[in-house]
Amino acid sequence: MTTPDESVHARLDRLRRDRGLLTPAELLDLAERGVAVLDPFSVIVSRRVEIGPDNVLHPGVVIECDERSHCSIGPGNVLYGGTRIAATDGGRVTVGARSLIGDGGTRILAGAHESIEIGDEVRLTDGAEVLGHSLLGHGSQILGPVSARSVELAPGLPYTYPDPDGRGGVLKGIGRVSGVLVGTGEVLGDYEPGRQRLYHPEAPRLGPGPTLERLTAEHAGRVLAFERDNRGFFADSVPDRRNEYFTPDGFADRHRALLAEQAEGRCHFHVVLNSYGRIVGRVNLVDVADGSAELGYRVAEADTGQGVGRAAVEQVLRLAAGAYGLSSLTAVSSPDNEASRALLVRTGFTEAGERSVDGKKVIVYHRAL
Ligand SMILES: CC(C)(COP(=O)(O)OP(=O)(O)OC[C@H]1O[C@@H](n2cnc3c(N)ncnc32)[C@H](O)[C@@H]1OP(=O)(O)O)[C@@H](O)C(=O)NCCC(=O)NCCS
Repeated sequence: MTTPDESVHARLDRLRRDRGLLTPAELLDLAERGVAVLDPFSVIVSRRVEIGPDNVLHPGVVIECDERSHCSIGPGNVLYGGTRIAATDGGRVTVGARSLIGDGGTRILAGAHESIEIGDEVRLTDGAEVLGHSLLGHGSQILGPVSARSVELAPGLPYTYPDPDGRGGVLKGIGRVSGVLVGTGEVLGDYEPGRQRLYHPEAPRLGPGPTLERLTAEHAGRVLAFERDNRGFFADSVPDRRNEYFTPDGFADRHRALLAEQAEGRCHFHVVLNSYGRIVGRVNLVDVADGSAELGYRVAEADTGQGVGRAAVEQVLRLAAGAYGLSSLTAVSSPDNEASRALLVRTGFTEAGERSVDGKKVIVYHRAL
């Protein structure tokens, strides 16, 4: 026997299936991959859309893709209500990772022979519209009711980066633009091109990345993604974290605890950002006491061997000697961690004996500041 409620659900499911759309139950099942669909009845997603993990879909999000088209959404994006993404008649839409799309409504529409590519940590808000054959580089932004057709916004650091000269291209204002290229650190607003710095004259000049940012609550999602992506790589050289660390709740607890320790001055934690604003490493000073602290670091597997570790350690050395008022640092490395030992020597550390950590021999390094 069916209840009236069941028959409503069954009818809704049939309507959606007939149109190639995921049913509300299937949308909820996306939670198994970390995709949070906050109201599955108001969210419309075509079966053909590829959705990466850890996306958040607010009520009223629509993502359509017909059988001739392609649409993929990377990990960790937040799609706010009023977002409509559509790839139709052979169009192609690719959205990268950790973008904020649609606060206040956004449309991304690719039709026949059109391809819209949106990089990582892009922000599209307040009625922005992307059409035609467009390329929105990492960290770029469209702010306001701008209808942008066939535009290219150069990649850069995301809007959270303090130096506007390093941020991705920005389109802002009201109206239509077509066929424009906006460079890194530039803004095209109300048809006048200019430097973003004009809007932020007091902003620091930090130059190109990698750069350090002191750990904050806002980094939580990106740090978890960084740790998850590189878990196997890190476990080869440092003790693996427990499974609980990689769950949203377990990670949130740990992150809060780290920030509490930092607030007490016992540690200084940092994320390392590359020139596109992606977290490529972490570098930390722990056990701060008597003018000294212990250095720790890790770099994403894909970004090793390119000087990221060295740049990060050199920057944290400057912070340690300056803002943190320390006079020496220690570090430890297992004897067979060639990369870590090379990094320590390259940044001025010298061997200062051995000790045992969890029953394993490690080499102790020391550096005066
Ligand atoms: C150790 C680690 C941070 C190095 O980061 P990185 O960004 O690759 O380091 P860099 O590219 O800045 O290289 C620093 C130095 O190490 C050397 N190096 C890098 N990888 C090396 C390797 N596998 N073998 C030998 N030397 C290596 C580089 O040549 C460079 O020296 P140079 O400037 O004299 O040429 C990274 O490999 C990592 O995160 N490993 C896993 C976690 C880990 O081991 N953390 C440290 C725990 S003690």
